[in-house]
Amino acid sequence: MKLFILTLWISSLISVHCQSITLNGVWRGTINTCHKKKSFQGCDDDINFSATVPGGVYTDLHRNNIIENNLLGRNDINNRWVGNQSVVYTKNFNVTSDFVKAHKIVLIFYGIDTFASVSLNGHMIGQTSNMFLRYIFNVTDYIREGQNLLQVAFRSAVKEAEDLYNEQKKSYIVPPVCVPKEYNGQCHVNHIRKMQASFSWDWGPAFPSVGIWRDVELVPVNDLLLNDVTTDIRRKKDTWDILVTIFLETTQSKNEELISCDITSTLYVSQSELISNSSEVMLDTSEKYININVSLTVPADAVKNWWPNGYGKQHLYHLITTVTTANGVLRKRIRVGFRTVELVEEPLEKGLSFYFRVNGVPIFAKGSNFIPASVFPELGAKEDTIRHLLLSTKETHMNMLRIWGGGVYESKLFYDLADEYGIMIWQDFMFACAMYPTSDAFLRNVEPEILQNVIRLKNHPSIVLWAGNNENEAALYGNWYGTGSAPIYREDYVKLYVNLLKREVEKLDPVRPFLVSSPGNGAYEETYNYTGVNPYSNLYGDVHYYNYIRNGWDITQYPRTRFCSEYGFQSWPSIYTIITAAETTKDLHVDSDFVKHRQHQPFGNQYMRLLISYNFVIPQNNNSVRDFANYIYLSQINQAVSIKIQTEAYRQAKSEVNSIGEGMTMGALYWQLNDVWQAPSWSSIDIEGRWKMLHYYAKDFFAPIIVTPHLSISNELSIYIVSDRLYTLRNCTVEIRVYNWRSTTPVFAKSFGDIIIESNKAKRIASFWLDEFLVRVGCGSLKSAKRSCIAALSLTDESGSLIAPVNYIYPDALKNADIPVANITMKIEKNHFLPGKLSNYPDFKLVLSTDNIALFVWLEVGNIRGRFSENGFHMFERKKEIIFHAHEGTTIELLRSNIRLVSLSDIYNARGNFDNDYFVRETKNLY
Ligand SMILES: *[C@@H]1O[C@H](CO)[C@@H](O)[C@H](O)[C@H]1NC(C)=O
Ligand SMILES: *[C@@H]1O[C@H](CO)[C@@H](O)[C@H](O)[C@H]1NC(C)=O
Ligand SMILES: *[C@@H]1O[C@H](CO)[C@@H](O)[C@H](O)[C@H]1NC(C)=O
Ligand SMILES: *[C@@H]1O[C@H](CO)[C@@H](O)[C@H](O)[C@H]1NC(C)=O
Ligand SMILES: *[C@@H]1O[C@H](CO)[C@@H](O)[C@H](O)[C@H]1NC(C)=O
Ligand SMILES: *[C@@H]1O[C@H](CO)[C@@H](O)[C@H](O)[C@H]1NC(C)=O
Repeated sequence: MKLFILTLWISSLISVHCQSITLNGVWRGTINTCHKKKSFQGCDDDINFSATVPGGVYTDLHRNNIIENNLLGRNDINNRWVGNQSVVYTKNFNVTSDFVKAHKIVLIFYGIDTFASVSLNGHMIGQTSNMFLRYIFNVTDYIREGQNLLQVAFRSAVKEAEDLYNEQKKSYIVPPVCVPKEYNGQCHVNHIRKMQASFSWDWGPAFPSVGIWRDVELVPVNDLLLNDVTTDIRRKKDTWDILVTIFLETTQSKNEELISCDITSTLYVSQSELISNSSEVMLDTSEKYININVSLTVPADAVKNWWPNGYGKQHLYHLITTVTTANGVLRKRIRVGFRTVELVEEPLEKGLSFYFRVNGVPIFAKGSNFIPASVFPELGAKEDTIRHLLLSTKETHMNMLRIWGGGVYESKLFYDLADEYGIMIWQDFMFACAMYPTSDAFLRNVEPEILQNVIRLKNHPSIVLWAGNNENEAALYGNWYGTGSAPIYREDYVKLYVNLLKREVEKLDPVRPFLVSSPGNGAYEETYNYTGVNPYSNLYGDVHYYNYIRNGWDITQYPRTRFCSEYGFQSWPSIYTIITAAETTKDLHVDSDFVKHRQHQPFGNQYMRLLISYNFVIPQNNNSVRDFANYIYLSQINQAVSIKIQTEAYRQAKSEVNSIGEGMTMGALYWQLNDVWQAPSWSSIDIEGRWKMLHYYAKDFFAPIIVTPHLSISNELSIYIVSDRLYTLRNCTVEIRVYNWRSTTPVFAKSFGDIIIESNKAKRIASFWLDEFLVRVGCGSLKSAKRSCIAALSLTDESGSLIAPVNYIYPDALKNADIPVANITMKIEKNHFLPGKLSNYPDFKLVLSTDNIALFVWLEVGNIRGRFSENGFHMFERKKEIIFHAHEGTTIELLRSNIRLVSLSDIYNARGNFDNDYFVRETKNLY
C-alpha cells in the first residue's frame, strides 16, 4: 500500500473518534510581587499576566512589561525575585459532549518546570517534581462538558532546593553548598531535577524559572493509549533485525478483562512498503502498562546505511506502527536509520583504546559540546536557533556534539536535525559538577526520568553514546567540594550512576554503549568499582583538559589523550552582540562593572588578558568603544588560534603512541559550541548566532585532510598530514613558503613531492630544526630569524589542487615580530551564481587588496544576517576574494554601509574598525 493512501485511510478512521485537544497557547498567570518591594508586611500584591504555553515565568513577565529585558545589564539579578515566588498558571477551556464520552481522558504534560500541583475544576489531579518527565494524568472523573478550569500552581524551585538541602543536611551534606560568588547564582540545584544551569554556571546567568515548558494536551482514550514505539536495530550477517517495542497503557475497564488487538509495524522505503509484520494479541487490561514486540527482518541490501557527516549520506526510513482494536486504530510513525556503533576499548601497549566505530569504520570524532540553546528552557527548541546551530556544525566538518549534563534532554527537533545532518550525539544524563543525593525519594524521581528519556530518544540513529554524568567522578576524586575521603560519597556515586543508571540504561538500550562519567577511564573503571583512580588518565577513556596559565599557542602543553571530550578558552562575543546587553556606552570598556558582572569564571578576565599577552601587545586602553572592540578582536584571535593548535595536536596523535603509550587520539570535542547570554565564554557561536573567529577556524582545523605543524620545545619542527578520508591519495605535494614581514613574495619556497596520504591516518612527513632552517633560507641571524619570518604550508594533489586548508607556522610570538602596516581596500560585487549556495538569499563577492602582509583579517556586517566564506584569515597574496553568504535579503548598499574590516596592524595604528558612531542600539535577535 502506498503511504499516502494509508495516511488518508488512517486519518479518516481517526476523525470518526475524538481528536486530542491542545492546551498550548494563552493561559493566565498570577504572581505575588511582594518580594519586589522592601516591606513584606500586609503585602498582597498578586498580579495577573497573560502567559504562554509552552513558556516560562521570566519570558512571560518580560512580555507583559512587568520585568525588564532579562538579558540586559544586570537584570539577571534585578529580576531574581521572580524565582523566589509562587506562580499560578490557569487555563479555561471547553470540551464537547462527544469528547467526554471517551472511556478515559488523560491530560499529558510533556514538560513542567518543576514543582507544581495540578488541579482540574478544583480537584487535585497530581504533583510534579521533575522537569525532565512527561506526566500523564487520568482526568476522566473531573473533566466535564463545556467549561473547564485547569490550574498549575508552582512553588519556587529556589525554595524547594533549599528545603531539600536542609532536610538532607540532617544526615549529611550533599555538596557543593553553593556556586562561586562570581556566578551571582542560586544554591542547591543538585537537590532538584531541573536544568542544572538554570541556577547559574560559569558561562551563564541564574534564571530559576518556573513554567510549562513543553506541550500540553488532552487525549481521549478508548481502550488503549499508545505511549511510545521504540526499535532495537541489530546487524546480522545479511540482514538488519529490528525489534519493535510498542508501549501501551490500558484504561482498566473492569468488564472487559481481555481485548483483542492487531499490531502491525511496517517499514517504508520512499513511499512504498518494504517489509511488514503483524501480531494478533489478547491484551489483559487489568495490567496498566503492556509492552508488545514485533520483529522485522530487513535484507541488508534493501536499505542504505546512515553515516556520520563526512562519511556518506544520512539515509532515514519511516516505520509506521498501527494498533487496531474493535474501537479504533492508533498509529505512530517514527524514523529510523541503519548503522552500527561500537565504542572500541581494546588493549594497546599500555591501557585501552577509546574510539567510535560506525558501520565498521573507525571515526575520529570532531566537534564540540552543546549547552542549552537558551537559559529559558521554553526557548531551547526554537527551530531557527537549533537549525542554525546544527547547520553551523555540519558546515564546519563536525561529526559529533556532546549534549552536556547540566542542560536538558533536547527536543525532538534537535535530534531529528542531528539525524539529518549526520551529527553523532554523545548524550549525557543530566547530572553535572556536583554530588547528588541518593535518598529513596530522589532515586524514585530519577528512575522514570531515565526510562522515559531513553525510550523517547533511542530511535535516533544520531545518538551513539549514553553517559552518566559530567565531571562528578572527577569532582569526587579531586575533592572539588570537600567530600574528602568520606566513604558515603563514593557509595552514593556507585548507587546512582552504576547501580541505577548503568543498569537501567543497558537494559533499556542494549545496542548502545554506556559510559559512567566524562571524563573517565572507560571500560577500565569497572576494575576498581568506578571511583578512587584518577579519571584523567591519558591511557584510558576520555579527558577534559584546561590550562589558563600557559600560552595556548604552545602545542607542547597539550596531552596525548585517547579522546579529548572538553577543552577550551574564553573570548568575548562580537561588539554587536555585547551592545544588545549594555545599558550605556560606559559599559563598553574593558574594565567596566558591566564587563566584570558578565564574567562568571573566577579570575576569568585576568586569565584572558594573560593568555592574550603571550602573543600580543594589548593596545593602550582609552576606555573608548573602539578599544573594547579591539580587545574583543584579540580575545577571539587568541581563542581561535589556541583551539586550532590544540585540536591539531589531537589530530596529529591519531595513529601512534609515544614512548609512554600515549596517543591514538580519536576524538576532539572543544568546549563549547553555543551561548546563553552576551558574556565572555568558551563558545564559538555567540547568543545572537554570530560565528566567532573560532567557528571560522573550526572549518579548517576539522577539515577531512589537514597539513599541520608541530613545534617541539627544542624547536624541532615536524610536519604532519592527517586524513580522515577512507581512501589513499598518491603523488601529493607539500609546499612550505617562508615570508619575511616586508614582502608578499616568499623569501623561500620548497616542495616535498611524492607524498602518499594513507587512508584514515596521521603521518609525520618531515622534521627539521626550525631556527637553522630559517637562518639558512634568509630570515637573518639565529637571534632574529624567528621574529623576522612566518611560514605557510599547503598541500596539493597530483593535479595541483589544494586538498587541505593552508596552514601557518608562527616561529615566535607575534608581539615580537615587526608586523607591517597593511592598507586593505575592499570592493563589493553582487554575485548570484556562486557554486555551493546555501540559501535562497544572494551571495556577494568581496574583492580585497592589500599592499602588505595582513594578519587576522576580520570582517563584520553589523546586524545583517549571514556569514563569510572565510574570516580571520591572513593575506600573503595582494588580492583575495571572499564570499558573503546572506541569510536574509539585503542589498549591496546596506552591505557597504555596514561592513567593517580590521586586521592586526590596524589596532596598533588606531585605524580601528569600530567607531562610537556605530553604537546603534539594536536589540534584534539575529537567530
Ligand atoms: C486575577 O484574576 C483572577 C481570576 O480572574 C481574579 O479573581 C483576580 O481578581 C485577578 N487579580 C487581579 C489583581 O487582577
Ligand atoms: C466556553 O463556552 C462558554 C459557554 O458556552 C463560552 O461563554 C466561552 O467563551 C467558551 N470558552 C472558551 C475558552 O471557548
Ligand atoms: C481513570 O479514572 C477513571 C475514573 O476515575 C477510573 O475509573 C479508572 O480506574 C482510572 N484509570 C486508571 C488507569 O487509573
Ligand atoms: C568492587 O565491588 C565488588 C562488589 O561490591 C567487590 O566484591 C569488589 O571487591 C570490589 N572491587 C574493588 C577493586 O574494590
Ligand atoms: C604517481 O605515483 C605512482 C607510484 O607512486 C607513479 O608510478 C606515477 O608515475 C606517479 N604519477 C605521477 C603523475 O607522478
Ligand atoms: C590605502 O590604499 C588606498 C588605495 O590604494 C589609498 O587611496 C589610500 O590612500 C591608502 N591609505 C593609506 C592610509 O595608506
